[in-house]
Amino acid sequence: MTAAPETDAVTRAFEALEANRRALMVMSLPELFEEDPRRFQKFSLKLGSLLMDWSKTRVTATTMRLLVDLARAARLEEKRDAMFAGQRINTTEDRAVLHVALRNLSGAPILTDGRDVMPEVAAERERCLAFAEAVRSGALRGATGKRFNTIVNIGIGGSDLGPAMAAEALKPYGKRGLAVRFVSNVDGAHIADTLKGLDPARTLFVVVSKTFTTVETMTNAQTARNWIAQGLGEEAVGRHFAAVSTNLAAVNAFGIAEASMFRFWDWVGGRYSVWSAVGLSLMIAVGPRHFTAFLAGAERVDQHFRTAPLKRNMPVIMGLLGLWHRNVWSYASHAVLPYDQRLARLPAHLQQLDMESLGKGVTLEGKAVTRPTGPIIWGEPGTNGQHAFFQLLHQGTEVVPCDFLVAASPHERGRKHHDLLVANCLAQSQALMKGRSFEEARDQLIAKGLSKAEAEKLAPHRVFTGDRPSTTFLYRKLDPATLGMIVALYEHKVFVMAAILGINAFDQWGVELGKELATRLEPLVAGKTMDLAGLDASTAGLLEHLRRIRV
Ligand code: F6P
Repeated sequence: MTAAPETDAVTRAFEALEANRRALMVMSLPELFEEDPRRFQKFSLKLGSLLMDWSKTRVTATTMRLLVDLARAARLEEKRDAMFAGQRINTTEDRAVLHVALRNLSGAPILTDGRDVMPEVAAERERCLAFAEAVRSGALRGATGKRFNTIVNIGIGGSDLGPAMAAEALKPYGKRGLAVRFVSNVDGAHIADTLKGLDPARTLFVVVSKTFTTVETMTNAQTARNWIAQGLGEEAVGRHFAAVSTNLAAVNAFGIAEASMFRFWDWVGGRYSVWSAVGLSLMIAVGPRHFTAFLAGAERVDQHFRTAPLKRNMPVIMGLLGLWHRNVWSYASHAVLPYDQRLARLPAHLQQLDMESLGKGVTLEGKAVTRPTGPIIWGEPGTNGQHAFFQLLHQGTEVVPCDFLVAASPHERGRKHHDLLVANCLAQSQALMKGRSFEEARDQLIAKGLSKAEAEKLAPHRVFTGDRPSTTFLYRKLDPATLGMIVALYEHKVFVMAAILGINAFDQWGVELGKELATRLEPLVAGKTMDLAGLDASTAGLLEHLRRIRV
């Protein structure tokens, strides 16, 4: 498939949306609710028990129709089908994009270059799940014959964030006596703190790296290797390491046995890889049944994405709203606010997914983009965020579209905590939408006993403009299938935005320059070379100061 630059049809579709935005400026969100009692029914959608409510965003039926027109103008369905058909849509790396094959539990053929990838996918998944089960059951033990009680995942970016986020999210499905920890940062503090208190005889390392060359991961893996060798002897190393990679030669060179090597393929992008062998630590943590349910949740979303009409297609609507906010309303950031403590790492995972995919400055043809691309993604679990940055969300000068995520039921017994959590979640989106006028603020103060003059002086500080958009995702419980759905929804949302903007969501050249410069600077930092000639004055000055003060 050759991707087109922005066509006249896309330009016209954006112009129509711009006109719609101007027309909507005269109506506030509360007015839109007053005008249409069926607003919630019109702007919400269910997929299983998961409900998406975008009625608190500034859209009308006309907006939704124009957004769907935009998707059609950009040939979204054709581009989506090209991905599922295994075409090489990652043009700068000349690769297919087939993470959907990893959760294709139906086993129906998925072809790339005329070859069905499903037999290999299924076989590797079976190997991973069997390995996970063997660790869990104690059939697979360390060099001294002891059962493993801790799995340490070593990886970074997509080889860390997905599994780390999901392992935290699915803690209630973990196994008693088996902990999973994650090391990513090259900062020695991370691995030192992670290994503290662990028994080498009972620790299994899973080294995850698509390339098996990433310096952070290789440095941490080497440190872990030394730790095992020191604690148990060199010959124990092989029994305490597993590897996940596409680079089998490098894994071999590291000394990890063939039976403990699990592979995936170049058509799986790092940030889309949790569904593959990259999820090995998660598989060990939750076991084969729950991991399969996680895949099944994602598969359900894939089927929906492929078949539902655009106007009732959840990830398509998420992507279109993303463009509506970023490109038509010019909102530069987007907050992800899980009212679900175990989704604490979801914002971090989505930061990589969204910002590495959409943070691009050129189109697929290498031309400078003419529209803003991805927003800045950020967030923290509610209610913690309420006591930190929500002030800005409610009264700051930046409007930040928010995603709220909340479960109807908790895993814990007793409803007190959860009822409060849900009430806070609903209250926040309500407050963002409705706001509070000057008159309301003033009258509240007068009712509290303040004089009219005092009330009028203080009231401006208590005014909430409202009209701030948010989308709420409400699901039954954070179980493996629901988590799979949530993650896959966001993946396809990103696909939709990239397809319409005409950018490549699957490469990440923007991370390269820093890596190259770090490689050049390392000898200067380490003191292997002292010559600062040719460096810019700031970097040279910083290195000089470092040399003076380091102990
Ligand atoms: O530096 C960015 C990146 O390439 C990510 O895209 C990727 O998820 C991460 O590094 C880790 O790469 P690898 O799995 O090859 O170690």
